[in-house]
Amino acid sequence: MRSKIVAGNWKMNKNMEETEALLIELSAKLPDTQAEVMVAPTFVNLAAAVRNLETSRIEVIAQNMHFAESGAYTGEISADMLLNIGVDTCIIGHSERRAYFGETDEILAKKVKTALEKGIRVMFCFGEELEDRKSGNHFSVVESQLKNALFSLESSDWSKIILAYEPVWAIGTGETASPEQAQEMHAFIRKTISEAYDSAVSNNVSILYGGSVKPGNAEEIFSKPDVDGGLIGGASLVSDDFVAIINAI
Ligand code: G3H
Repeated sequence: MRSKIVAGNWKMNKNMEETEALLIELSAKLPDTQAEVMVAPTFVNLAAAVRNLETSRIEVIAQNMHFAESGAYTGEISADMLLNIGVDTCIIGHSERRAYFGETDEILAKKVKTALEKGIRVMFCFGEELEDRKSGNHFSVVESQLKNALFSLESSDWSKIILAYEPVWAIGTGETASPEQAQEMHAFIRKTISEAYDSAVSNNVSILYGGSVKPGNAEEIFSKPDVDGGLIGGASLVSDDFVAIINAI
């Protein structure tokens, strides 16, 4: 059965002291939950975060990785480097990487392939932009994002994939997809995967929702049958808010 997951993407926030302080607070306040709880600090604080959380059940994950094994890629981080410090889950395809760093479906497909070959679990992000939704193209955009980056995988690879549907218009804007809109898209995603593979694959993959999830709306969003948790940005930077969201699952 698929897992419930609440993950905090800290993006480019928190220096070393702030990272440590937030991890200590989160560890102290972490509720008893069946859900997997993950945080993604910045690269410079990743190894320290792993050490800080050695005895905690909060998992440290990475925000990004490169598709190449090693070499002349200034500023980049490889899968082996993540594994070497004890990180074995990585966010790939976040809309900010797509928008500001030119990451195309083709690049993302390569990243996913490398991650899986190395044994890294992938949290794959995708979602439509506001114009896509306004023009009614949101389903076809999401379908092609999935198809281009993931549908050449083997069925067995899907046990290492977590999906995070994040409508771009809801990220950091305070505007959330309604629980009904989230459910509608998550059901569509599951149906699309079922058609490309089978119902075992589609029923076993966790699909998270991301985009302005807050303590006040988390419970209703998480109550939807095809929503298995959330990828949280802004609200994951405040321990009480993140803990409240974990409690909502
Ligand atoms: O990775 C997280 C998402 O981009 C959501 O960010 O909760 O600040 O809207 P947000």
